Amino acid sequence: MESPVSFDYAPAPESRAVVSIKPKYGHFIGGKFVAGSKHFPTINPATEEVLSQIALAGKAEVDAAVKAARKAYTATWSKMSGKERGKYLFRIARILQERAREFAVLETLDNGKPIRESRDVDIPLAAAHFFYHAGWADKLEFAGLGTSTKPHGVAGQIIPWNFPLLMLAWKIAPALAAGNTVVLKPAESTSLTALLFAEVCQQAELPAGVVNIVTGDGSTGALIVNHPGIDKIAFTGSTEVGKIIARAVAPTPKSVTLELGGKAANIIFEDAAIDEAIEGIVNGIFFNQGHVCCAGSRLILQENIAEEVLDKLKKRMSKIRVGDPMDKNTDLGAINSKEQLLKIRELSASGDAEGAQRWSAPCELPTKGFWFAPTIFTGITQSHRIAREEIFGPVLSVLTFRTPQEGIDKANNTPFGLSAGIWSEKGSRFFGPANSFALE
Ligand code: NAI
Ligand code: MG
Repeated sequence: MESPVSFDYAPAPESRAVVSIKPKYGHFIGGKFVAGSKHFPTINPATEEVLSQIALAGKAEVDAAVKAARKAYTATWSKMSGKERGKYLFRIARILQERAREFAVLETLDNGKPIRESRDVDIPLAAAHFFYHAGWADKLEFAGLGTSTKPHGVAGQIIPWNFPLLMLAWKIAPALAAGNTVVLKPAESTSLTALLFAEVCQQAELPAGVVNIVTGDGSTGALIVNHPGIDKIAFTGSTEVGKIIARAVAPTPKSVTLELGGKAANIIFEDAAIDEAIEGIVNGIFFNQGHVCCAGSRLILQENIAEEVLDKLKKRMSKIRVGDPMDKNTDLGAINSKEQLLKIRELSASGDAEGAQRWSAPCELPTKGFWFAPTIFTGITQSHRIAREEIFGPVLSVLTFRTPQEGIDKANNTPFGLSAGIWSEKGSRFFGPANSFALE
């Protein structure tokens, strides 16, 4: 007999008392906070509450930041031993750990991701990243890269909004370990943790100008990319902007690294452990609202298990808790911005129009803020836009295959590389030459 008792979760809200958000922010240049000239609002995407006003850097501010970074590079950072640089990175890592709760709450407020994820994933990984690269700072000459490894100089770094502090750590920690100084621009919708990180640089007594943070939108990003005083550009974000940057940098002496979009295949063979695969599918596409470059956004199912997998997947998706990101039990938070929500809606509507079948988990969405229920599309062909374009939201496109070769051909039918998943009991399925994946 079914139990009449329903065991629901009680609300478990995290307190925001631990953070203090200023009404207005400037830039962090040469070790000091300097006032901005123009400002734009940053909001909490779960409530649409305006959290603060963020400064929009123009030419003068970007110039000043590049100048400060160059001065710090020439006078201090490039002269310092790796061991000394490592000490600062260790200090930053420890301060991030000490202030982890403050960073987690601020990240969730500004980004909309569940507090459980910012607390257990973003912030601990950011600290771990600084610890890791602190350890490399004095070992670069033994890393097998030759004995004369040398820094680029001044790095211009532009990051997106899906993992704001973690992306900052991925950019700043290795650059500083290798002896570069940086000018970093966070994404316009998620600048707050980068500005708190600037305080950490002060607290760690990092020499002035080694890290500079300028805030702003794509126009600020373009000023960094085209600045003649910068030696290296590091960018993570959309493929479109990546192409613009590649074109801008190609005729210059600048070095560049680009980390762009994806449309990763998650292939489930008939012999896979289905219950485990379901967890892998859910994590692959619904973690961080699907705002993940390597999200498993194309589920490629062997046809004879498709019905069973989809049944179980729908049951599992019905248990995903969507709502207040500050609640410790929430699984899926808010979509980061109105623009991103519109993009997800537009691509999903194209799926309807092209004849795919939509199924969304039954859940009550808050009335304010930007929300999208966990969704799957079936009945998709490879030419559908939702099978080809990055949706960057909690939307899974499902395709089926009969023979392993057909599954692999479908998985590889994408201009993207980046990642893929294979679920099978057989090692020969992963490694067999007939099943090899194109390495892109
Ligand atoms: P975006 O590429 O426009 O923004 C990323 C960063 O680049 C931001 O800091 C932005 O201010 C900056 N930027 C924008 N235009 C620039 C330019 N011309 N020169 C230099 N910097 C510039 O990404 P957006 O518009 O926020 O998202 C659009 C789509 O991009 C998403 O729907 C998703 O498909 C994809 N995306 C992929 C990411 C990934 O990690 N692979 C991250 C963010 C977005
Ligand atoms: Mg954009």
